[in-house]
Amino acid sequence: MAEIGLFFGSDEGNTESVAHRIQERFGEDVLDVKDIADATQMDFAQYDRLILGIPTWDFGQIQSDWEEFWDDLNEIDFSGKTVALYGLGDQFGYGDFFLDAMGMLHEVIVQNGANIVGRWSAEGYEFDASKAYMENENVFVGLAIDEDQQSELTASRLNTWCKQIAKEFGIPIEPEEIDD
Ligand SMILES: Cc1cc2nc3c(=O)[nH]c(=O)nc-3n(C[C@H](O)[C@H](O)[C@H](O)COP(=O)(O)O)c2cc1C
Repeated sequence: MAEIGLFFGSDEGNTESVAHRIQERFGEDVLDVKDIADATQMDFAQYDRLILGIPTWDFGQIQSDWEEFWDDLNEIDFSGKTVALYGLGDQFGYGDFFLDAMGMLHEVIVQNGANIVGRWSAEGYEFDASKAYMENENVFVGLAIDEDQQSELTASRLNTWCKQIAKEFGIPIEPEEIDD
């Protein structure tokens, strides 16, 4: 089993595709990818380092498979676990709800004891409101990916963020830079 477990939910495939792009950077021996639709609480217990990926749907709502897992998620003890989040959204289409689901996921896992890494500067994004935004530090609670409006920036954002979280996870590997 790999050192890092990545759990994603995805309605239309964008968050899933980003999951695999993150895995390519770390390598399959370092990072396992799991769809939250098939996951159990026991799966989370296997990893001390986690990456959680979630898109926002329907004006600030949690993606449907994460929604179904939500009661289970609330029961998971995240103390001793280090967690990085990434969220997908559309900053121009849904600028009042940009990445809200990532903010809601962050709230639950912080309450349940997670140590959060992977915060990401909000420079270069335009939005009016976001539950994932920490205004005092001008950062998002995790990596912000916008495949609808800024897909050309995704590869470099992933390259930078993967290196950042490798350090923050304390694993002695350098994720690969990929121009995908
Ligand atoms: C009907 C609809 C509602 C959406 N609502 C939001 C939203 O409230 N906030 C946001 O940031 N993005 C919103 N989005 C954008 C999606 O989050 C974005 O397209 C994302 O990449 C989808 O990820 P997925 O393919 O993994 O499901 C919405 C998109 C659609 C089509």
